Amino acid sequence: MKQGRLAGKIALVTGASSGIGEAAALALAAEGARVALAARRLPRLADLADRIRRSGGTAEAIAADVADEAQATAMVRHVLDTHGRLDMLLAVAGIGVAAPYADTTTAECRAMVDVNILGFLYPLAAALPAMKRQGSGHVVVVSSGTGRYIHPSTVYSGTKHAVSAMAESLRREVGAAGIRVTCVEPGAVRTQFTAQMRPAVRDAVARRLGAMEQLEGEDVAAAILYAVTQPPRVNVNILTIYPTQQA
Ligand SMILES: NC(=O)c1ccc[n+]([C@@H]2O[C@H](COP(=O)([O-])OP(=O)(O)OC[C@H]3O[C@@H](n4cnc5c(N)ncnc54)[C@H](OP(=O)(O)O)[C@@H]3O)[C@@H](O)[C@H]2O)c1
Repeated sequence: MKQGRLAGKIALVTGASSGIGEAAALALAAEGARVALAARRLPRLADLADRIRRSGGTAEAIAADVADEAQATAMVRHVLDTHGRLDMLLAVAGIGVAAPYADTTTAECRAMVDVNILGFLYPLAAALPAMKRQGSGHVVVVSSGTGRYIHPSTVYSGTKHAVSAMAESLRREVGAAGIRVTCVEPGAVRTQFTAQMRPAVRDAVARRLGAMEQLEGEDVAAAILYAVTQPPRVNVNILTIYPTQQA
């Protein structure tokens, strides 16, 4: 077994096929956690699992759409059936159309609600009973700076405000059962995040960010690692992390 501060721990990371989720999975695996990697793009997950195994870690890839309740539930059940427990659920999967409401289609609104809100709640529903039985567990959800401050991306910002509010409420609800909840709220991170936006929206975001040096996925992963390596008595509630130059 790989040694490290998370040796013996089981982690499920959604959104592990790129960006923050990929970096977080690598960081956890480097500290000895056995990681289940979930997203829709299986080849990318399989490649990441290979890289982790080659460096001495333990990883497996699970194709799952977290916005589909049956798939999200099966994903968590698979991890529980395989390992008998789940120590960390990292809900990183998310999408965003960083546009004003007037420039957001109802289909885009629905997709953001489905992935960002339900895609957090479905895996959570499947994981919490097991964590309660264990008397321990750590839920880490990646919200956004747009979940704390008002941004022009009205609907995306709204879904992330919902996530941040639910994370803090959940923390108060499950802390007595030994379960920790951490909400991570990054500013701009250089990932594939804007690639799935319409070209016009993507260009507007690129203009807004300009030449500013963004965070890397590894920067957010380091913040997540800080939270999950604290002693069980310590709950890191909220981590807001921005590029130095971002207003
Ligand atoms: N980049 C930023 O500036 C920024 C800032 C603040 C917060 N965030 C948040 O950080 C999180 C990660 O984003 P990122 O920046 O790392 O972007 P990214 O590189 O685009 O990663 C998004 C991840 O979410 C997964 N995903 C999307 N829809 C999914 C679905 N229906 N089911 C399962 N997985 C799904 C994607 O995998 P598949 O496509 O393979 O399914 C991918 O692994 C998101 O929640 C985002 O809102 C990002």
